[in-house]
Amino acid sequence: MTEEKIKKVLSGIREPVLNLDFVKLGFVKDISLNGKNLKITLGISDRSGNILNETAAKVKEEFKRTLPELDNVEINFVTGVTEQINEKKSSVLPGVKNTIAVASGKGGVGKSTIAVNLAIALAKEGVKVGLIDADIYGPSIPIMFGVNEKPKVTQIGEKNKLVPIEKFGVKIMSIGFLMEESTAVVWRGPMASSALKQFMSDVVWGELDYLLFDMPPGTGDIQLTLSQTIPLTGAIIVTTPQEISLADARKGHIMFQKVNVPTLGIIENMSYYLNPDGSREYIFGKEGGKKMCAEFNVKLLGEIPINTKIRTGGDEGIPVTAGDTVGKEAEVFTEISKELIKEINLMNTDISNSSDIVIEI
Ligand SMILES: Nc1ncnc2c1ncn2[C@@H]1O[C@H](COP(=O)(O)OP(=O)(O)O)[C@@H](O)[C@H]1O
Ligand SMILES: [Mg+2]
Repeated sequence: MTEEKIKKVLSGIREPVLNLDFVKLGFVKDISLNGKNLKITLGISDRSGNILNETAAKVKEEFKRTLPELDNVEINFVTGVTEQINEKKSSVLPGVKNTIAVASGKGGVGKSTIAVNLAIALAKEGVKVGLIDADIYGPSIPIMFGVNEKPKVTQIGEKNKLVPIEKFGVKIMSIGFLMEESTAVVWRGPMASSALKQFMSDVVWGELDYLLFDMPPGTGDIQLTLSQTIPLTGAIIVTTPQEISLADARKGHIMFQKVNVPTLGIIENMSYYLNPDGSREYIFGKEGGKKMCAEFNVKLLGEIPINTKIRTGGDEGIPVTAGDTVGKEAEVFTEISKELIKEINLMNTDISNSSDIVIEI
């Protein structure tokens, strides 16, 4: 029995979400054969519900059929992450599989809150996550992560590079780490753009599955700089249900379309307030995000309630998703992170998106 034989079996089994075989997807993470006992670790796009049990049963069945000499087959699953398809894939961030902007047209809608909690929730799915604070004029990451230290400098080749700070399982970088709190940030546009570029080129990010960008509001210089520096995997647009916020979110979506960055989905924040009796109060109106998704044919990734703990978590530097035991406020972020992993995998393996697949006739 050889590893090759085992791989051959796995190349005949399709991952249930992406409908491509495990080998082709690079989702065979580990094979360990001990006599007649086989242990394999497979990546999978969706670890919820019955999918794991059903897939495990299917894989075991296939081994029983093709390699009956095996006594025992044990299957472990980990989150499977695919790499962005892009022939122009940037040399700026060579170790990063996917780059995601968390954006909106408007300030104060919860971009930073969502970027921070999503990053932590993603890390808890067992993937490697980084977060760049792209809001150079008004960085939120230091406070929301409760970080009050300066990143270390390391020398790589001839160049000095910054080592990102790691907290709650996420590698983070913010202009706020590099400046005194009292220093008023008076940047000219080009300075802010060049700071953002340096966060990509002069920070040792290493290998990452996802690098998130917490964007400033609007559709200005920083958004343009980012989309011109790297081919983003996609953007998440954050909005509240209110018309005034939706109008700006539409602008954000349209701007990313113009620079060929797909919208991965919309997150509606402050969707409702959960009353103690379980009823919902729609403070900022109802289902605005849903309507916007229908209008642009994009996915609604989630609806996040307005909640005191979500705010205090950010203010106190311990987001609701952080820590080993989290409250129910974290659930919505966990759900969105799972959805996001699935959506990005689907996008990355969508044949119509790929230019390097040759159809044999
Ligand atoms: N779902 C929520 N529930 C309660 N407060 C929230 C929620 N989302 C954001 N906030 C609060 O609203 C304010 C603005 O959020 P922030 O994430 O800084 O927005 P942005 O980055 O879009 O400017 C912050 O004080 C934050 O704590
Ligand atoms: Mg912000």
